[in-house]
Amino acid sequence: MKVHIETERLLIRDLEEYDAKGIFQLDSDPDVHEFLGKNPINTIDEAKQVIDFIRNQYVDNGIGRWAIIDKKTDDFIGWTGLKYEQGLRVDFSYYDLGYRLRKKYWGKGIATESAIQSLKYGFEKLDLKEIGAAADVDHLVSNKILKKIGLKFIETFKFEGSTCNWYNLKKSEWLKFKPTDVYK
Ligand SMILES: CC(C)(COP(=O)(O)OP(=O)(O)OC[C@H]1O[C@@H](n2cnc3c(N)ncnc32)[C@H](O)[C@@H]1OP(=O)(O)O)[C@@H](O)C(=O)NCCC(=O)NCCS
Repeated sequence: MKVHIETERLLIRDLEEYDAKGIFQLDSDPDVHEFLGKNPINTIDEAKQVIDFIRNQYVDNGIGRWAIIDKKTDDFIGWTGLKYEQGLRVDFSYYDLGYRLRKKYWGKGIATESAIQSLKYGFEKLDLKEIGAAADVDHLVSNKILKKIGLKFIETFKFEGSTCNWYNLKKSEWLKFKPTDVYK
């Protein structure tokens, strides 16, 4: 088990095959998929495929989404982190910041906290020059998080029939903004 980040309450580690039940609880929930194309999964086999897909990215791209675990209970909360995104924008690939949590963990600041840690990892450990992110224009909470942790709105774009906001943050801007100050 490879742990990448630890905070007071969260352990952020590689997704493992044994997370299939957690991924199933996460990705079979229609509310979780409201702004993600409304296509939740239906079987544990699909959850296993999600894990394989992400774990292959660790090998192919050196990075992929990570599991968030509740340190107190060892419960699977969801995922966070960076992905080398090659399919969302037609003109370019980029390192994408994302988060997806089981509903019972919403509203506790976990997405914000883990996103701040993911930015820090991307800029400090991977030495990325820039990190991007996208959110459906109607997804108020996700847009709020991205702005709050320092990402800058650049433009809107269309993806599979939805209009999305596109954001990015350069390392030079992040160093000035210090988003860790946001989360106290
Ligand atoms: C989007 C998501 C990750 C947010 O996670 P979260 O841990 O609940 O977010 P946070 O607790 O960090 O909240 C961020 C901000 O939104 C606010 N917020 C959270 N839920 C809210 C709600 N239902 N209504 C209004 N505001 C809300 C919080 O109060 C917080 O604002 P603050 O910083 O002013 O206090 C979570 O809802 C989720 O997993 N959704 C499904 C997957 C998804 O849509 N991922 C994003 C795709 S772009």
